[in-house]
Amino acid sequence: MNSLLEAEHIEFAYPDGTTGLNRLSMTIRQGRKVAVVGANGSGKSTLFLHLNGTLKPHRGAIRFQGKELDYSRKGLRELRSRIGLVFQDPDVQLFSASVEQDISFGPLNMGLSPAEARQRVDEALEVTGISDLRHRPVHGLSYGQKKRVCIAGIYAMKPEVIILDEPLAWLDPVGAKHILALLDRLNAAGTTVIMSLHQMDIVAHWAQDVIVLNKGETVFEGNPLSLFAQDDLLHRCGLETPWPLEMYHDLVRMGLLPPGEAAPVDKRGLLDTINRKWCKR
Ligand SMILES: Nc1ncnc2c1ncn2[C@@H]1O[C@H](COP(=O)(O)OP(=O)(O)OP(=O)(O)O)[C@@H](O)[C@H]1O
Ligand SMILES: [Mg+2]
Repeated sequence: MNSLLEAEHIEFAYPDGTTGLNRLSMTIRQGRKVAVVGANGSGKSTLFLHLNGTLKPHRGAIRFQGKELDYSRKGLRELRSRIGLVFQDPDVQLFSASVEQDISFGPLNMGLSPAEARQRVDEALEVTGISDLRHRPVHGLSYGQKKRVCIAGIYAMKPEVIILDEPLAWLDPVGAKHILALLDRLNAAGTTVIMSLHQMDIVAHWAQDVIVLNKGETVFEGNPLSLFAQDDLLHRCGLETPWPLEMYHDLVRMGLLPPGEAAPVDKRGLLDTINRKWCKR
């Protein structure tokens, strides 16, 4: 599968000297669902800000489709229409007076006609479940509502790659499921989806690829099954074990499942394992 977006040995320090990224390398493959995880302060947001050119590495290179990023105004404008970033903090992203204006900004900025932009806004409001917020002033929204407006704003640009920095934070459980389903639909239609999150049970069932950051470095790239098999790494990086895997270990300890099988990491895997042992057909 093609490498779409890669970082090679990128280094970045904030103006106060704090290390953001420390010779970080990683590869995103085309069309994948990728989770980027790590403890608070491990560098997820800093990495994302590099991937759409908001921050520029002090050393190292970032390549999109094999080409180093072009940091000219024109280059960045094109990049951001192809790689959309939903910021962690919605107050950084939202700046227009109303929800509708905010969502239409991206499409209009890409040169779409007002009619086309309106169509994009209609669709983005619909798929993110916020049509009722259309005329509301942005500043009066709840935090979770603002997060959805941010997702709608990026969706409206129809980027090839959508990067979401903790999109599920502050969403209610139904809202989070709704957004995950939306991301799955986008991915099924060909969009590469990259998201940071702290809920390992969602990583286990949602992600195809996982990148783990620790202190500004990549310490793991691979699939959820192999990540969650590495207790030491999880512990060192402050990551939890997904609940289905914990439950599997409990069931093995209780003698209800045999030890030694490949351990399941998500609910479906756990149910399959139980089924194989207890529901012999
Ligand atoms: N504006 C800033 N000025 C100085 N240091 C910063 C700034 N933003 C982030 N940092 C530092 O850079 C490092 C990486 O932070 P970053 O925000 O990328 O982490 P994160 O993995 O996104 O964390 P979280 O899970 O809390 O969102 C941390 O040590 C953080 O304190
Ligand atoms: Mg962050």
